[in-house]
Amino acid sequence: MTVRTDPLERAAARSARLEERIAASPERFRVLTGDRPTGPLHLGHLLGTLANRVRLQRAGVEVFLVIADYQVVTDRDLVGTLAQNVREVLLDYLAAGIDPSTATIFTHSAVPELNQLLVPFLSLVTVAELQRNPTVKAEAAASGGSAPGALLLTYPVHQAADILFCRGNVVPVGRDQLPHLETTRLVARRFNARYAPSAPLFPEPEGLLSEVPVLLGTDGAKMSKSRGNAVELRATEDKTRRLLGRARTDSERTVTYEPERRPAVASLLLTAASCTGRTPTDLADEIGDRGAAALKAVVVEAVNEHLRPLRRRRRELAADPGHLRDVLAAGNRRATGIAADTLDRVRTCMDMAY
Ligand code: TRP
Repeated sequence: MTVRTDPLERAAARSARLEERIAASPERFRVLTGDRPTGPLHLGHLLGTLANRVRLQRAGVEVFLVIADYQVVTDRDLVGTLAQNVREVLLDYLAAGIDPSTATIFTHSAVPELNQLLVPFLSLVTVAELQRNPTVKAEAAASGGSAPGALLLTYPVHQAADILFCRGNVVPVGRDQLPHLETTRLVARRFNARYAPSAPLFPEPEGLLSEVPVLLGTDGAKMSKSRGNAVELRATEDKTRRLLGRARTDSERTVTYEPERRPAVASLLLTAASCTGRTPTDLADEIGDRGAAALKAVVVEAVNEHLRPLRRRRRELAADPGHLRDVLAAGNRRATGIAADTLDRVRTCMDMAY
């Protein structure tokens, strides 16, 4: 008899075991993850991934964060806004608690040796493998009819370079990024088998799925930087109130937590629950038949309260652009040193050390 399990369930089980190994010996792990600088980060990022990165950092794991500026040009036309967006993401990281004295924050474009890894790595995968990647397919389809650039096809391999240049072995990811992680593992495996069979150079990094529920935006669709449906971390309390005041609910008066039947209401409850540490059912019971207005008031209060210290730090950091420049310059320098060392080893393995 064959037992079939869902790949996502298996990934979740692997993540749980990985959490235990990290807790037992954090110094054996190096996290690499990052974001595309397409705009300021929002509450979904904080609850979904940022808080998790800060948790790992505090547990003693070394954290590398790539602000993936070359990835932005795979499918977007944001000419002229990149520097500002990089600054916003950097501010969000630091305000959320990423500590630049232990974490390394860098941008793709500032680390040439990382990008050079793309050349040998591209030789290790086939065009057909890249064309089958579900995320690449989805993003190509979403590119609005315009023909996708060649960089879109190769970007999972670029991501492999992001992870492997620093020999990252833990990648906290959302589900949509799992196929890319598989590409990274494939590249690592094939490189080792072909060029370093007796002493493997690259680890096969493991994905760490966060347990956080996916929150919907105020329009009931997935939270996204470009839809304007999410509370930006940098937003004022007033703006937060206005945005959440417009959030979709439904026509039933009594507030209940029923994620399947009432997704918009459930997502608001989950948002407040994530910010307060209470359960969504508990909050729903408390609001009861006071309806959507009372629910929104609870959510606004919970979100603003939760974000208050982060927003205060963010304002202080924003007032010191010199410090921000220094943090990024130091991160770029450190990433470049590591990437140069990795590239040297790659050259040696490939018999290109002349
Ligand atoms: N692709 C990721 C995103 O769109 C960002 C990213 C770039 C990344 N390089 C990475 C994530 C390496 C994890 C590991 O959000």
